Amino acid sequence: MTDIKKGLAGVVVDYTAISKVNPDTNSLLYRGYPVQELAATQPFEAVAYLLWNGELPTDEQLAELVAYERSHRTLDPEIIAAIDLLPLEAHPMDVVRTAVSVLGASDPAAYDNSRESDLEKSRLLFAKIPAMVAYDQRRRRGQGIVEPRDDLDYSHNFLWMTFGEEPDSVVARAFNVSMILYAEHSFNASTFTARVIASTTADLYSAVVGAIGALKGPLHGGANEAVMHIFDEIGTASNVGPWLDEALASKRKIMGFGHRVYKHGDSRVPTMKAALDTLVEHYDAQELAELYDTLEADFVSRKGIYPNLDYPSGPAYHLMGFDTLTFTPLFVAARVTGWTAHIMEQAASNALIRPLSEYNGVDERHIEGYVPDFAATVDRPAEAAG
Ligand code: COA
Repeated sequence: MTDIKKGLAGVVVDYTAISKVNPDTNSLLYRGYPVQELAATQPFEAVAYLLWNGELPTDEQLAELVAYERSHRTLDPEIIAAIDLLPLEAHPMDVVRTAVSVLGASDPAAYDNSRESDLEKSRLLFAKIPAMVAYDQRRRRGQGIVEPRDDLDYSHNFLWMTFGEEPDSVVARAFNVSMILYAEHSFNASTFTARVIASTTADLYSAVVGAIGALKGPLHGGANEAVMHIFDEIGTASNVGPWLDEALASKRKIMGFGHRVYKHGDSRVPTMKAALDTLVEHYDAQELAELYDTLEADFVSRKGIYPNLDYPSGPAYHLMGFDTLTFTPLFVAARVTGWTAHIMEQAASNALIRPLSEYNGVDERHIEGYVPDFAATVDRPAEAAG
């Protein structure tokens, strides 16, 4: 019998030099650097450069990327118009997916798959996606667009464009950490989707649009949003026990816990939890912290399944003031750096990704009246054929 690897679990499909996930040592390396060290020392701009180019930037290289990012943050009128056409009830993941699609359709270089052109597109997406996400949250709140500020770095400016206020440095720092931790994670579902699309030699924008679709699901990126819905349902720490009794009895998945690769805890969680702690102190949000700790302790003791990055990042984005629906688009803004690095890596050593399947449908059967003669086709009205 064919050994089916459902969900491709445990299947190694290619090499990558971009990141290394080691569930045994609970470590995650970006181009060889532990992600914790990057989060503690680097701006997100430098990590984007590292993922794309393999090395951390020199001061000059960083200054060049920073200058590029700051000068490409404004949304073109056709993107704003496309976003405005969408209903306010549209999920922000649908909005960012559409806006990226419009950006791609408007780029005359979209079909140039050279590394040089793809790097340019990657930098453009890196600069534009925050403006898309920020504008969408504002329009849902009935607020106008806030123009970017080129005296602010990526994280400060992202928060500025979203809230129209210069963020406190504690908040911008936690945001920068979250972007770095979300940036890359080997062959996860959305990155693999991007690589599948890139392997057909379709353009980079198509691959990113597909990846956004994959990230939307609650089993993947949508979990950070789902964590906050769970917190809202539970309400307070004292409700955790009875809520968990019921959730587990009805076989619900508890969002923000579990991982396909990490089975003893997610390497990124302690760093994001430390960032969340600084926010809890900054916003004096002890109740939320208590709920967080109680749910984690109770669920881990019952099931031995540990939190993943979405567990601390959901509440962190909530405290920063983001709408719950905006959480997964924030993940897009970060992960676009990893996706695009993978798209370029795939293109550099491409093989069309096309697995096999084992057929388990009905046995061969035949159309009644069919005569194996091309001239004598069966006379069947088109509407009946559907
Ligand atoms: N809540 C409750 N039970 C969980 C669970 C969770 N969050 N995660 C895993 N489990 C249980 C499963 O029900 C299953 O139990 P069973 O063997 O009795 O059927 C077992 O643990 C294995 O889980 P499975 O879903 O098969 O493992 P996986 O490797 O395919 O799943 C995830 C990984 C991420 C899809 C899964 O843990 C999940 O759905 N988590 C919640 C969503 C989430 O936070 N996603 C973000 C990932 S970064």
